Amino acid sequence: MSTRDAQAPADAQFMQRWSPRAFNGAALNHDQVMALIEAARWAPSCFNSQPWRFVYAIKGSEHWPAMLALLMDMNQAWAQHAGALIAVVSRNTYQGNDAPAPTHSFDTGAAWMSLALQAQSMGLASHAMWGIEHDAIPQALNLPDNMQIQAIVAVGEPGNKDDLPEPLQQREQPSPRKALNEVAFAGRLPDGAE
Ligand SMILES: Cc1cc2nc3c(=O)[nH]c(=O)nc-3n(C[C@H](O)[C@H](O)[C@H](O)COP(=O)(O)O)c2cc1C
Repeated sequence: MSTRDAQAPADAQFMQRWSPRAFNGAALNHDQVMALIEAARWAPSCFNSQPWRFVYAIKGSEHWPAMLALLMDMNQAWAQHAGALIAVVSRNTYQGNDAPAPTHSFDTGAAWMSLALQAQSMGLASHAMWGIEHDAIPQALNLPDNMQIQAIVAVGEPGNKDDLPEPLQQREQPSPRKALNEVAFAGRLPDGAE
């Protein structure tokens, strides 16, 4: 049995998406990056506030070295072969009144997933990273105080697992999930739910 068998008839695209680390080193072009962000732009958000912002660097562009340097070494090791890096940023206050926007992360998470599924539909792989240089990012990306980094996403053409460092080769496979009955509950969580 595959680690990714569906337990209810959801669309196969959700089981097929995963986060590989093997990229082939080809740069994405500007149109491809815009298609990814375009997909993300149509995500739902509270009050249609659209708190997401995307700061991108295409491999080989003037912005690439500085964006790559914002990844922790363990991520740089493989993400250097991606075709673009996209920093996903969210605004934690509403435009207009600057009141706190409590759903900004939820909304921006939806946008990232749209980006990931758009990448998959284009034959590209995507891999989000929290292992990033959090202290350096606000200045490097010119983020004001009300803009939070959520992740930097590596996107690119799939590569060859054999080109990864040995320890990463073993992890280069789709991961399983909790069972449906561990996450779906009618009415209320059961006592002692984890
Ligand atoms: C917000 C976020 C941060 C992540 N950070 C990292 C990271 O720093 N390095 C890494 O190798 N994978 C990272 N991942 C990938 C997760 O480990 C991966 O999505 C998870 O194990 C599920 O696997 P799948 O995406 O292949 O289905 C991150 C994923 C998300 C959504």
